[in-house]
Amino acid sequence: MLSACEEATLEYEAIMKPNGDIAKYSELSAGTSTIFLTSSKAYDMPAPWVANSLSIRFNNGDILYDNPFTEESGLGPVYAGYSCGSCHKNAGRTPSTIYSQYGSGNYGFSSMLVYIVRKNGGFFRDYGRVLHDQTIYGSKAEGKLKVTITEEEYSFPDGEKYSLRRPHFSISEWYSDSISPDDLYISARIPLRHVGMGQIMSISNDELLRLEKESNYPEYGISGRLNYIVERGVKQIGVSGNKAQHADLTVELGFSSDMGITNSRYPEEVCGGQAQHPDFFDGLEITTEEMEDVDLYMQALGVPARRYVDNEIVKKGEAAFYASKCHLCHIPTLHTRPAGSVLLNGTSLPWLGGQTIHPYSDFLLHDMGPGLDDHIQSGLAYGAEWRTTPLWGIGLQETVNGHTQFLHDGRARNLKEAILWHGGEGAVSREIFKNLPKEDRDALIVFLETL
Ligand code: HEC
Ligand code: HEC
Repeated sequence: MLSACEEATLEYEAIMKPNGDIAKYSELSAGTSTIFLTSSKAYDMPAPWVANSLSIRFNNGDILYDNPFTEESGLGPVYAGYSCGSCHKNAGRTPSTIYSQYGSGNYGFSSMLVYIVRKNGGFFRDYGRVLHDQTIYGSKAEGKLKVTITEEEYSFPDGEKYSLRRPHFSISEWYSDSISPDDLYISARIPLRHVGMGQIMSISNDELLRLEKESNYPEYGISGRLNYIVERGVKQIGVSGNKAQHADLTVELGFSSDMGITNSRYPEEVCGGQAQHPDFFDGLEITTEEMEDVDLYMQALGVPARRYVDNEIVKKGEAAFYASKCHLCHIPTLHTRPAGSVLLNGTSLPWLGGQTIHPYSDFLLHDMGPGLDDHIQSGLAYGAEWRTTPLWGIGLQETVNGHTQFLHDGRARNLKEAILWHGGEGAVSREIFKNLPKEDRDALIVFLETL
């Protein structure tokens, strides 16, 4: 009797072999979950093992994920996005209005999350932790984000010029008591790509604890640490989110906090002081089974294979990636635990188990220096600490979402600027990169584009 996993492996090999298209080891980003699509749907296709009843649930999850909620179906009264897919278009990063409209979008949409915190770390009574900058008719948005940019000019040691845009955030049009900027920290975040969600949920705690222990390179100023959060009384290792501030894929929280869709875990409307304007929908607005389908959808997404692994320039760029010590944080190879993952309502996905994966992350927090400090603490993470962003699929972001904004707030306009913003524990890497011959720097970028 074969295990579900072994069956999936055999099936997978059967799919791959007839074309003579036997993928090389390093191309298989996520073992049997790897897919070979390079179109705008590259983040948004099921893994090859999704069949039969799983397939039905996957499609249902996909529909709920993309379903635009309206006032009639429970949206709001205040919200940040009207569906998961509104911010994560094609399971990626919808371009944010931060840079196209310099803040909150004016047309019921922004594609970002704006966290607001008092300088002592506390919540604002009428607002909570997320600024809901959109609203259904008849209510008032909590406030609007405004952004100003300063452009800073620099050059590489060899004379090539570059410039970095530094965003400055403020909030206007507060719906209730105005909050003084003197008592306010603002962190704007663009959405994260959904590449490898199931794999991330399947990494074992032992592997994460090992990564934390090994992440200690005093010669390069690098030492990562795990984030821990307490949810429902249980202390857990955080893996998802820009500060590894969540232990799961935040389906319940996303419906509640981002869209105002009440559910079994968060039954109250997120209307802060606006309880006088409830939406038109009584009772829970989505069921636990439906939310598990959304969880399943995300965890069963395929991970795009690497491309052009044998190209000479790509190989040169890969060597430059290692020479620049990028791999000490963006760790190329990890493993999932044998049992795979368990969804929020108890369904297990054994197909995710026992796989060699290439996320290019250690899922640890690193101090990235004052330039990226948002002064907001999440779990153990301080303002300057961020989770190493997994780089798998990054080269397809432009195809999938039509833009090349990177880093937590999208300030980097391309991959090169993303590297040049690395400070703190990433400073040595950045300096090595800056001192590479231009040809090698360019090759490193080409290598990233194959991930
Ligand atoms: C208003 C925009 C918005 C909406 C709506 C939204 N998200 Fe997100 N999502 C984000 C942003 C921004 C982040 C990064 C947040 C952070 O780390 O602070 C994120 C992060 C995530 C992550 C973490 C990914 C990772 O790599 O660690 C998951 C999972 C996720 N969202 C799932 C969902 C689901 C499921 C829904 C619908 C229930 C949803 N999101 C709705 C903006 C949104
Ligand atoms: C000390 C650990 C560390 C090192 C070394 C490091 N990075 Fe990062 N990297 C991070 C962290 C943490 C982030 C997230 C920062 C943020 O969003 O503000 C990040 C973000 C990125 C991003 C943006 C990803 C996205 O989707 O927004 C890219 C690209 C990147 N790194 C590439 C590199 C390259 C190339 C190198 C080597 C030159 C490198 N990094 C070295 C930790 C590191």
